[in-house]
Amino acid sequence: MTMRNTENHWGWLSKLLHWLTAVLILIQIPLGFYAEELKLSPVKTGSICLA
Ligand code: HEM
Repeated sequence: MTMRNTENHWGWLSKLLHWLTAVLILIQIPLGFYAEELKLSPVKTGSICLA
């Protein structure tokens, strides 16, 4: 498999980036459940801005 894309096939670099993106997206699902469970804090309610 070549690194570069060809007319008919994606190269390994594109496939690697695609699956890295997929992993990062899927990691967000449990992170969302975890974040939702956290207790309310001044940061979470928006009364303190960290920016
Ligand atoms: C949870 C995230 C994702 C999953 C589970 C996923 C899964 C898949 C799977 C199973 C395929 C078929 C692979 C194959 O035929 O060999 C595919 C193809 C594709 N994905 Fe994703 N993907 C994800 C995210 C993304 C994102 C974020 C993009 C672009 C912004 C993307 C763009 C594409 C494209 C363009 C194809 C078609 C490739 C081709 O021409 O054969 N995917 N994806």
